[in-house]
Amino acid sequence: MKNDFNEKIVLVTGAARGLAKEVARKFLDANATVIITDIDDEAGDKALKELINLGRIIYLHMDITIEEEIENVINKIVSQFGKLDIAINNSPYMPPNILLDKYEEGQVRKTIDVDLIGVYNSMKYELKQMVKQKEGKIVNISSIAGLKGIKGLSIFSAAKHGIIGLTKSAALEYMDNNININAICPGIIETESFDEIKNKHKDDYNYYISLIPNKTLAKPEEIASAVLWLSSSDAKYCNGTILTIDGGVTI
Ligand SMILES: NC(=O)c1ccc[n+]([C@@H]2O[C@H](COP(=O)([O-])OP(=O)(O)OC[C@H]3O[C@@H](n4cnc5c(N)ncnc54)[C@H](O)[C@@H]3O)[C@@H](O)[C@H]2O)c1
Repeated sequence: MKNDFNEKIVLVTGAARGLAKEVARKFLDANATVIITDIDDEAGDKALKELINLGRIIYLHMDITIEEEIENVINKIVSQFGKLDIAINNSPYMPPNILLDKYEEGQVRKTIDVDLIGVYNSMKYELKQMVKQKEGKIVNISSIAGLKGIKGLSIFSAAKHGIIGLTKSAALEYMDNNININAICPGIIETESFDEIKNKHKDDYNYYISLIPNKTLAKPEEIASAVLWLSSSDAKYCNGTILTIDGGVTI
């Protein structure tokens, strides 16, 4: 793999922590210019301080549920760097693990708003720019919950399945503009959010671990490497590809 993204301008959403921050780190290692965005500005500044010595990176506030904020960020990127080559769209809200009839309406709407409509919103403005350039690559972050049912995560699973449909249909719609749109479905990753589940919700943690055949979690950098590959010219023939990296959870 040509692991060099020199001169590439990369947007990573919801990247103040967790998997998306590791994706940003890998792109910096590969010489890209990286724009990380998030709603948590304190964590965003902390991530920026952590990553700034690795290369060219800026942090911008952007809530993926607010179209105006996305449009402003894309405009800023284009006015500062002239283009947007690659966009990695996180779908970052994890609702509590409860049975379908126990959700409050607010939780259901928030999950769909952030995890599905948030990804749609991000794609909408990224694609407007990529169509102008007649070039671009998008990788959406789904989940094993986008491929199979998971007890206690019905609405999250619905949103993550939605991302798969969005990815495949958009891939067909924008292929002729030299734009590749793909998604990854990670299994369970060693991130802060999973640590929180381990510490606060032991039963949920044990259930998730029981789904993994060899009981081993993914390291964020293992998933991030796959995101870089899908964003690279080596993956030019991938369109609407749903790449599962899950330690065998879905086999
Ligand atoms: N951690 C896992 O085990 C696991 C497993 C499968 C899939 N995934 C997927 O990987 C991705 C990253 O997971 P993670 O555990 O690293 O997430 P995380 O919860 O650690 O980080 C999510 C980030 O997104 C930000 N965010 C939340 N709402 C936002 C919004 N409206 N607009 C912009 N940013 C917002 C948060 O502030 C946070 O910094 C998610 O899409 C998740 O569903 C994670």
